[in-house]
Amino acid sequence: MSNKIMLCSVLALTLGCLALAYEPSPLQDFCVADPNSSVKVNGVACKNPMQVQAEDFFFSGLHLMGNTSNAVGSRVTPVFATQLPGLNTLGISMVRIDYAPWGLNPPHTHPRATEIITVLEGTLEVGFVTSNPDNRFITKVLKKGDVFVFPVGLVHFQRNIGNGYAVALAALSSQNPGAITIANAVFGANPPIPSDILARAFQVDKSMVEILQTKF
Ligand SMILES: *[C@@H]1O[C@H](CO)[C@@H](O)[C@H](O)[C@H]1NC(C)=O
Ligand SMILES: *[C@@H]1O[C@H](CO)[C@@H](O)[C@H](O)[C@H]1NC(C)=O
Repeated sequence: MSNKIMLCSVLALTLGCLALAYEPSPLQDFCVADPNSSVKVNGVACKNPMQVQAEDFFFSGLHLMGNTSNAVGSRVTPVFATQLPGLNTLGISMVRIDYAPWGLNPPHTHPRATEIITVLEGTLEVGFVTSNPDNRFITKVLKKGDVFVFPVGLVHFQRNIGNGYAVALAALSSQNPGAITIANAVFGANPPIPSDILARAFQVDKSMVEILQTKF
């Protein structure tokens, strides 16, 4: 075997392993989600392929602005397998994100997806933080047409730094990326995480933790 072929084999093996670490490759053309199936699988069971229609691969509504009248001033409109059944098993999805002036999509992570985002309107300050022990903060200002990627699992955010509305579209490498919003998960857990645990973790008084817990 030549060195070149050996290198290719090693690369193929490596890429194969990477692919397995994410969503499984489809074993058929599609597996449109059947929300009525009682079968429990990783994802959703397939609808009978003979009954699949164009509507199963279709979603309409991302031209509509999301309602940003909330505490953070942003709204995510998802197009996951739940909204678009044809996405089931395909390992991809998308969202529209609307931002009120100075609105924030607060720090959160997607446990199952890398996210690639593009700004359609406005200017966004975006950033993510690398894993321990560095916890390096990587940040950038994005203008209309700019693209940025948030690597899988890392805590990230976007903030509109303009006086007008902003809109972004993002694609995610999962049909069901999941979202863990840091503040809500930590201070809004149900039932609550004991305040002495959070006081020790955040190195503040219990009273300060309790104030934060009332907000989520
Ligand atoms: C699920 O069941 C409801 C109620 O029986 C039916 O209206 C709907 O079409 C079903 N959905 C699918 C995808 O089969
Ligand atoms: C937007 O959300 C707010 C708060 O929930 C609500 O009061 C308001 O009616 C909503 N606006 C629209 C246009 O749906």
